[in-house]
Amino acid sequence: MTSSKIIEPGSTLGMLGGGQLGGFFTESALKMGYKVVVWDPSTVAPAKRFATLSFDASFDDVDARRNFIKAVDASSLEWENVPVSLVEELESEIDVRPGSRSLGLAQNRVQEKSFLSKHNFDLADYRVIYSRSELNSVDLPPPWIVKTATLGYDGHGQWLVPNCDYIKYAKESMTGSGPWVVERVVQFEQELSVVVGLHQNGHTTTYPPTENIHENNILKLSISPGRIPTEVLKKAQELATEVVLCIGEAGVFCVELFSLKNGGILVNEIAPRPHNSGHHTIDTFTISQYELQIRALCGLPMPTPIMKGHSVLLNVLGEEMRELTSKPKWESIIANQHARIYLYGKESIRPGRKMGHILFHGDELATLIPEALETQQMLTDP
Ligand SMILES: Nc1ncnc2c1ncn2[C@@H]1O[C@H](COP(=O)(O)OP(=O)(O)OP(=O)(O)O)[C@@H](O)[C@H]1O
Ligand SMILES: [Mg+2]
Repeated sequence: MTSSKIIEPGSTLGMLGGGQLGGFFTESALKMGYKVVVWDPSTVAPAKRFATLSFDASFDDVDARRNFIKAVDASSLEWENVPVSLVEELESEIDVRPGSRSLGLAQNRVQEKSFLSKHNFDLADYRVIYSRSELNSVDLPPPWIVKTATLGYDGHGQWLVPNCDYIKYAKESMTGSGPWVVERVVQFEQELSVVVGLHQNGHTTTYPPTENIHENNILKLSISPGRIPTEVLKKAQELATEVVLCIGEAGVFCVELFSLKNGGILVNEIAPRPHNSGHHTIDTFTISQYELQIRALCGLPMPTPIMKGHSVLLNVLGEEMRELTSKPKWESIIANQHARIYLYGKESIRPGRKMGHILFHGDELATLIPEALETQQMLTDP
């Protein structure tokens, strides 16, 4: 369904997936006067802390689907692996924003890459292989990153092939049944992400690009706005907006980019939802990416969010959570006037799992970056 009606406060919004992104959406929706039904098979999903009503059934449960449609006026999503077939079923009765088309693209790297190249966006050179043995005949100069077509996240389902001698080891460690995307490693200047909102009336809204620094392929630091020349900043925003317009479904998206030394920008991937690099918008913009997601879902106006300051976001991963909550460290961080601690309420700690983040917010990146780096050091040193 693609209706042009406005969904007013007092209505009930659905959220498919109950992680931290869904949690921030739900919290924001409550503040705006909406109720939220969170559907996630995990009974302890973080977003359920804020939910008006929770669904714990698996996503293929037909009764739950029927009840969800009855309970909500429209729905959004926060998890990329919600079954496309569920979203298609929901769409026949209610608005789901973003919808099944963008979800389908994001779930399958092969489809995502071919969609982007069909629309002439610049990408890292890549090939698609359907069996491990095809790795021997890939006609691209290494180094490569081999990526599973489906179910990859935080660098899971990726294997680095530094040179051809390494192909035999990669073939042994590659999991899944294919296809895989074999991508040339890009010597990027910076990784950027741009959050874009698309209204049902075609209007778009973006935030300035965030500069992202990964550690072991997991997002560690996000600097906003990215330390890039104004023309690159503008070009990245325009490029991300074009990508979202090509997808053409209302909602909030994040486009991940690689900026190159020669001024070029490559598209890495698309997330049909707010992004972990965009949590800072809660504190540093008049409209957060979550409020934008609600506005896009409900057909409300989407004016350009005004920036209220600079920020550095430090993700708290796995065991760092224990360090953060140890008394002396927690006390010193919370005493910093720039630092705001966000904990997602996840019950179990797993290596690399995003447990929370600390946002360093102020006027000068020159102050905030060292503070974030010192804190990072504090959390990695037991
Ligand atoms: N072609 C490439 N060249 C250089 N670095 C790359 C390339 N592809 C991926 N990376 C690095 O690996 C990270 C994770 O890759 P990607 O975003 O494709 O996968 P993902 O597992 O879906 O990650 P996430 O869920 O964190 O977005 C990128 O953010 C980047 O740091
Ligand atoms: Mg990514």
